[in-house]
Amino acid sequence: AEGVNSLEKIILREPRGSSAEVYLYGGHVTSWKNEHGEELLFVSSKSFFKPPKPIRGGIPLCFPQFSNLGPLDSHGFARNKFWSIDIDPPALPTTSSSKAYVDLILKPSEEDMKIWPHSYEFRLRVALGPGGDLMLTSRIRNTNCDGKSFTFTFAYHTYFSVSVISEVRVEGLETLDYLDNLQKRERFTEQGDAITFEGPVDKIYLSTPTKIAILDHEKKRTFVVRKDGLPDAVVWNPWDKKAKAMADFGDDEYKYMLCVEAAAIEKPITLKPAANSIPRESSRVVEDPLLWLL
Ligand code: BG6
Repeated sequence: AEGVNSLEKIILREPRGSSAEVYLYGGHVTSWKNEHGEELLFVSSKSFFKPPKPIRGGIPLCFPQFSNLGPLDSHGFARNKFWSIDIDPPALPTTSSSKAYVDLILKPSEEDMKIWPHSYEFRLRVALGPGGDLMLTSRIRNTNCDGKSFTFTFAYHTYFSVSVISEVRVEGLETLDYLDNLQKRERFTEQGDAITFEGPVDKIYLSTPTKIAILDHEKKRTFVVRKDGLPDAVVWNPWDKKAKAMADFGDDEYKYMLCVEAAAIEKPITLKPAANSIPRESSRVVEDPLLWLL
């Protein structure tokens, strides 16, 4: 861990040269480079890197609320909290082939529980695969003592770096239903063609396939998002007007980013309190009381 902007971050390096950076503030991935050293995530040059503001770019974690769909601040509080390194994480078989990983944990303080009255353990593993894949695994347990379940929405709010937005298309969301955040969250159905960008987009695609591709024609690069336990996918680009209105985002930066977010929004997730016994962890499948989000 090293201090930059007075915030601590962890750097992961994989033998073939890919790397990633994770800030304890927010449990926030801010960099993911391939083996040629090319940055694959977008972080705004105007980002504050100053608590309590979230970092603008990388992979903010939206928990326990996506956007303003509830009483909490936009996207919940996980992205504004200082996470800790999880020194004794339970085994995680899904990424055991990777040696370049870090385990973080977030638990609420008493102050936090005044804002959201639930006790939980949120474990995040950030891992680099041998091929340079970036893998995020979230495991959330309800540790309420009073037997109360809790309900939340969630997103990995990933900002991908793109050559220029006009050259990008997204495949895997054609013909799906979506809620349009720019039109009062009304429900529409996407047309049959791959998605391209000519203006602001802020859509929640519902029950998507587990694989979504972002094709960057100019860079001849394709990102593949794979997800499990996260049925929805948000696609967001603020475009010029909203970009100008955001204090932590450059006026022209919308051209060089696209958010494609693995999410659980339409059907919020309800988690029962964890049993006292150690939960079974042999399955990738979402199961109570331990929830896996990949
Ligand atoms: C997206 C939402 O996921 O995040 C947008 O769909 C929102 O509506 C955007 O504007 C950025 O949110 P924030 O809170 O980071 O400015």
